[in-house]
Amino acid sequence: MSVMRIIRLHMCAALVAASAVAACGGASDATGVSPEKTCQQDPTQAKCVVVTPVDTTSLRTLAARSNRFIGAAAGSLFGTNPTFDATLKREFNIVTPENSMKWSSIHGVSRAVYSFDAPDALVAFAEANGMKVRGHNLAWHNQNASWVTNGTWTAATLTDVLQEHIATVVGRYKGRIAQWDVVNEAIDDSGKLRVAESVWGRVIGPSYIETAFRAARAADPDAILAYNDYSLEFPGVKQDSAFALLQRLKAAGVPIDQIGFQAHFQINADGSGVPSKQALIDVFNRFAGLGLKVAITELDIRVRTSPAASAAELAAQTNGYSTVVQACLAVPACTTIVTWGVTDAASWVPGTFPGYGDALLFDSAFNKKATYTAVKTALGG
Ligand code: G3I
Repeated sequence: MSVMRIIRLHMCAALVAASAVAACGGASDATGVSPEKTCQQDPTQAKCVVVTPVDTTSLRTLAARSNRFIGAAAGSLFGTNPTFDATLKREFNIVTPENSMKWSSIHGVSRAVYSFDAPDALVAFAEANGMKVRGHNLAWHNQNASWVTNGTWTAATLTDVLQEHIATVVGRYKGRIAQWDVVNEAIDDSGKLRVAESVWGRVIGPSYIETAFRAARAADPDAILAYNDYSLEFPGVKQDSAFALLQRLKAAGVPIDQIGFQAHFQINADGSGVPSKQALIDVFNRFAGLGLKVAITELDIRVRTSPAASAAELAAQTNGYSTVVQACLAVPACTTIVTWGVTDAASWVPGTFPGYGDALLFDSAFNKKATYTAVKTALGG
């Protein structure tokens, strides 16, 4: 045993004699032990060891103190990777199925056949662990069932199909899914309603939106019903178009309760990419002014991975997470923040944006990243 080690144990033992848990104090310089670390009696070895106190307060505990939900999307690792499941239930009090409730998954085979196993398992997991569920989603132009997109429909027959799907899926989970993304990404990047690329818009026309919300309300009167879209966080035609759409629908009495900001951000070389806290507060309040709740539904902040992000880019990413959480907490209508995944090992980002990734709160080994600490601190931890 080195001389330094003997000195450290001796000093530690002397302190422990006075108290079961004592500050190492003067041992710091000689041993490299920092002042915030402590000596504790090791019950198995009858000697004194140096330990670092760990703050194990979870994100969900902190969010609950502000009456907020903090969540994550559960994708292919859910139910197959125990560390994924353990992290999900430890840190989050709301969960979204990344894919398993989309048409192609839950209703992909034929009109008569639904595939409820995966969504049932997620809802049961959430209930067993005191978590809420955000259902995702009921009408989208992507990941639709091929029997729908390739079918021969009139507006009336496709409306029947949409209503039947929503009655069946929302009805099955009545009282068990707190929030639903009813209509997803109905507006394109130029601010126009998607028509050519959406079977709903093309065959039924804009009225499918109202139809979907009314069907969802009828199937579960207590669920919070959301319009969910990306790039609404930035001022411009898309934000204005979504605002006009929701304003019109609210005025017509369509049951819409929540606006979902997907919040898929990218840090640019100059560190830009996430709106300022005030800009986010302003846009959240803009939509809250329509009587809507606000949710951040698919948060991730990607950085370059090849070549690797600079320290400044990583700092911008960390600040970005902090900014988003602070902005939500500053707006009473903002109740929910969901990240689009748990671990960088399973994120949609690298597949869609080659050379970018590392967008989440946990690294590929489920270690907490600086982004996690930023969220935790912003939540008051
Ligand atoms: O299930 C098949 C599997 O059988 C097959 O072997 C594999 C081969 O590629 O593909 C699997 O399907 C993939 C599916 O994710 C499940 O992993 C699809 O190819 C892939 O396109 C699909 O990507 C999803 C994407 O939506 C589709 O648009 C992502 O996981 C999902 O994160 C992403 O989520 C969307 C939100 O729903 C809406 N907002 C944007 C967000 C990010 O794109």
